[in-house]
Amino acid sequence: MGSYGSDQSTVSFSLQHEVQLRFLTPQDIDVVKQLCHEWFPIEYPEQWYQDITSNPKFYSLAATYNTQIVGMIICEVKPRIKCNREDMDILANHFIASTQVAYILSLGVLNDFRRHGIASLLLDTLLSYLSSSEMPNVKAVYLHVLTTNSVAIGFYERRYFKVHSYLPYYYSINGSPRDGYSYVLYINGGTPPWTLLDYAKQLGTFVSSLQPCNVSQRLVRSAKSLWQKIVSGSSH
Ligand SMILES: CC(C)(COP(=O)(O)OP(=O)(O)OC[C@H]1O[C@@H](n2cnc3c(N)ncnc32)[C@H](O)[C@@H]1OP(=O)(O)O)[C@@H](O)C(=O)NCCC(=O)NCCS
Repeated sequence: MGSYGSDQSTVSFSLQHEVQLRFLTPQDIDVVKQLCHEWFPIEYPEQWYQDITSNPKFYSLAATYNTQIVGMIICEVKPRIKCNREDMDILANHFIASTQVAYILSLGVLNDFRRHGIASLLLDTLLSYLSSSEMPNVKAVYLHVLTTNSVAIGFYERRYFKVHSYLPYYYSINGSPRDGYSYVLYINGGTPPWTLLDYAKQLGTFVSSLQPCNVSQRLVRSAKSLWQKIVSGSSH
């Protein structure tokens, strides 16, 4: 994971304190489990924790304060063809199957450290990595969130993420189904698929770009030629 850039960076947290960034390692598994239990109402399998702390396909960044992990962001970069079915339409159709997208699996900050810009710092660091020359092909960053998680929704909307889909019964929380949203941010020239509204707008632009005089002249000419054909046809 060192290949993602420098191993540590520093940001001013408050007047006296500092938060540092580093990548997760297998030694962090127990702490990461504890934090995920605290932050998310979802049970992750053991293999998930091993993967996010050791498999280089995950970008797993931790924010630390006095060496204690106080926040983390976990992201996987993958070709759009590897997206789950419900996320296949994240990108417009003209992007080929190997076009890369980035999926944020998790983002959390310890309760006492919230509203100090730590999640923003983690997200910004991820976004600058995804927008760097190392990663020219990543066109969208997306995530899923419970419809009831208004804090996370507010956070992502403030960071220019837009709702992409409503996902009824997407989650199972303590055995009961709960709805979710997918949110997406387009980067590096990525665009969403066209909606009906986009097609209507395009048609409107096309029609208004036609010169009305030319249109009516063409219509008159077509009508005349059609009339002549009818008349000459009836005289035979
Ligand atoms: C969502 C979460 C990661 C935000 O972390 P954070 O470090 O507090 O976020 P930041 O300090 O960078 O907040 C940036 C902006 O997001 C918005 N925001 C964050 N928390 C908010 C809250 N509780 N209420 C309203 N707006 C909030 C604000 O606009 C904030 O800017 P401001 O503080 O200048 O007003 C954190 O609340 C958390 O860990 N929640 C539990 C886990 C979770 O739900 N993760 C998301 C799963 S998809």
